[in-house]
Amino acid sequence: MRHLPQLFANNRAWASRQIRQNPEFFARLCAIQAPRYLWIGCADSRVPANEIVGLAPGELFVHRNVANVVRSDDFNGLAVLQYAIEILHIRDVIICGHYGCGGVQAALGAPVSDPLEHWIKPIRAVRRRHADDIDSHTDAPARWRRLCELNVMAQVQGLSRLPILAAAWAAGRCLNVHGWIYDLKDGLLRDLDVSVTRAPPEQAA
Ligand code: CO
Repeated sequence: MRHLPQLFANNRAWASRQIRQNPEFFARLCAIQAPRYLWIGCADSRVPANEIVGLAPGELFVHRNVANVVRSDDFNGLAVLQYAIEILHIRDVIICGHYGCGGVQAALGAPVSDPLEHWIKPIRAVRRRHADDIDSHTDAPARWRRLCELNVMAQVQGLSRLPILAAAWAAGRCLNVHGWIYDLKDGLLRDLDVSVTRAPPEQAA
């Protein structure tokens, strides 16, 4: 190949390593996709979903975008969610943010150009809604960290109010939405304790 030969060399080495460890590796992956979890994370290159939680190919359904935003007008994200719930029958959706998120930082600063500005609008809204909380932190890094957390919490709330979730819960499906945050500094995940396991009260019959 003419372009990026190193990546192809890496790929060949990876594929043969998998086969050495388990000759059936690719045959089994081809046969069935049955991940138990949907991961909605940031596109940040330092937050590789599978690796962080020690899951192999086939075990984690992954959607990533700038600053792990869930938008009701994002057909990409909604299609992933629909596929995960209706076809793969996933029971746990994990929204995972991370400290040091550039998308969240952008939402703390002056407007940027579209489409990024359009994309981070919901994070600016979170920042406005929680102005007291965020401004109670005296230094900029602490405010940034706090908005990283609040953004995840807001996305969990927003996701749990989407019609597709309401339909699944109304049908008696077991479906949980979790909010986690990853710390680049030590590689550890923290549960923000905002899991939603049933339809929010205003939606319940
Ligand atoms: Co990020």
